Amino acid sequence: MVDPSVEHDVERSTEVHPRRVADAKVDVDPRPLRLVFRTADCEIDQIDRSHLIPATRQFDRVRAGPASDLEDGLTGQQTGVEDTDQFRARAPRIPGRIARRIRLFELSTGQADSPVNLEMPMERRILRSSLSKPRGLREDYIDWGRMRPHMSKGPPRADLEARTKASRAYADRARRSLPGGVTAGVKYFDPYPIAMKKAKGCRLWDLDGNEYIDYCLSFGPLVLGHGHPRVMKAIRDSLQSAGTTMFGTPHELEATYAERLLRIFRPDGRMRFTMSGTEATLHAVRIARAYRKRPMIAKFEGHFHGGVDEFLVSHTPSRDETRKGLVPISGSRGTPEHVLKNTLVLPFNDLDETAARIRSHADRLACVILEPIERSYIAPDPEFLKGLREITADHDIPLIFDEVMSGFRVAFGGAQHAYRVTPDLTCLGKIIGGGLPCGAFLGRPDILDLADPVRGDFFQSSTFAGYPIAMAAGMATLDELEKPGAFDGLLETTRTLTSGFERHLKEHGVPAVVPGVGSVFSILFMNHAPRNYRDSLEADEAKRSVLDTSLLAREIFVKPGKPFYVSAAHDNIAIRETLDAFEESLSGPA
Ligand SMILES: Cc1ncc(COP(=O)(O)O)c(C=O)c1O
Repeated sequence: MVDPSVEHDVERSTEVHPRRVADAKVDVDPRPLRLVFRTADCEIDQIDRSHLIPATRQFDRVRAGPASDLEDGLTGQQTGVEDTDQFRARAPRIPGRIARRIRLFELSTGQADSPVNLEMPMERRILRSSLSKPRGLREDYIDWGRMRPHMSKGPPRADLEARTKASRAYADRARRSLPGGVTAGVKYFDPYPIAMKKAKGCRLWDLDGNEYIDYCLSFGPLVLGHGHPRVMKAIRDSLQSAGTTMFGTPHELEATYAERLLRIFRPDGRMRFTMSGTEATLHAVRIARAYRKRPMIAKFEGHFHGGVDEFLVSHTPSRDETRKGLVPISGSRGTPEHVLKNTLVLPFNDLDETAARIRSHADRLACVILEPIERSYIAPDPEFLKGLREITADHDIPLIFDEVMSGFRVAFGGAQHAYRVTPDLTCLGKIIGGGLPCGAFLGRPDILDLADPVRGDFFQSSTFAGYPIAMAAGMATLDELEKPGAFDGLLETTRTLTSGFERHLKEHGVPAVVPGVGSVFSILFMNHAPRNYRDSLEADEAKRSVLDTSLLAREIFVKPGKPFYVSAAHDNIAIRETLDAFEESLSGPA
């Protein structure tokens, strides 16, 4: 650690940081990065583009003697070490963002392998620095790239566009071959999506070299973060031992993984693998139809089960459309009339209305499908799920839990474990592939056995289902998640983040809520927590859009308008940076 009795100077090396220095020449004062720590009383009075890092402060954060009143704001542990708020209380003239930067710097200096750990000889720090980031994206002693947006005075959108020119150029090119320049509608946002080229842990790097903390995580699957060593090894080992990418025949990993998933979700059940969550929900509904020999499905307003006509019905009806009542609303042009006629729309968390609708259509219904946790962040009333279970059981209508998202995010074993409600069929996806494509539907043996080819009752097939590398990656992911404390740690990290967001919203008097369950949450600009899709329509989308742009400009990657997904790779530094960026987004230019 830094010896407080000595003055330390760290100068930026032009050899080690060519890209940063090139940046500096373009738009900032090219003076070298300089960090100075002194024991003398002094203040940071200026930090702007003409003073790169004149971070000079009284370095007295470790106090002599017991200081049990000092606790880490993040973990709540007594540390005797001053945190940002305590530092600010003592030095009120130092701007908050500077104090937080210093705190981050201090955290880095405390890490043995950090290039800012001044205990390391300079040569090793330089080496460490150049090794610690992907080629061309080397780490600075203080990450100048990350500081820049915090200093910005411009509007977030202009800021973001100025920093993501390569993404814009890519979007212009991609639009010529891919509608909207994307391979899935969900990946698009205005004015163009940011294109990435590298990822590690909880961090992403875009085509311009900007580094982001990732809260999209490929829309949920990457619960361990990007490129987790255990998962990467499992993929390599699987390829090496098989000598091929796939067999097109049964192989041992299929049954091994099926047995493991069934132990978690349905020990007496059976399952089939698919290639995606959509395929899982599609076949679950088909097999329920085969079982019930009836055409109609019941689904909940606002719930998503994949990009298929019948699942898009009433998936995102507008406020005007909801005024028509709970009528089936086509979610995509080209939806055939028979799909609308055969879809019953239900209101989430409204048991009376749901029960009445199911009863009055029981003769025609093949199944009821739902996200047991709406969009993975709106919790069900426990009584609602139990009531739904009873009414569907009364009529022998298969109840399908779509746990593609919630399966290993809400709890290990999904909402059915958390709420102790057993559905007839369960759909899985996302996390079970460990970052590779994989889905599954599982459940009651008397229903699943219809898919036994010897019986010939129900046909389901998929060339890539049971993809060996996905099985290996999925099992490695579950191995990590099952380690003692791993899942709890993930939940704790998420709570730290959501409570931090709530605190900042309160401090800034911003009327917004942070609904969340497990390791997924969202931010809605409204003054009460939503109980279902209709409630969430009250939220001010324009405000959320400004926040999202502002976060992106501060290198926090969230897909605009979408939930935040947290991973085990989100460490304390990432969480602090996120909370700082969030607070600055609330107070910054909007
Ligand atoms: C609850 C739920 N079901 C199904 C799907 C579809 O999964 P996939 O995109 O893997 O086809 C999704 C995707 O986001 C989902 O969130």
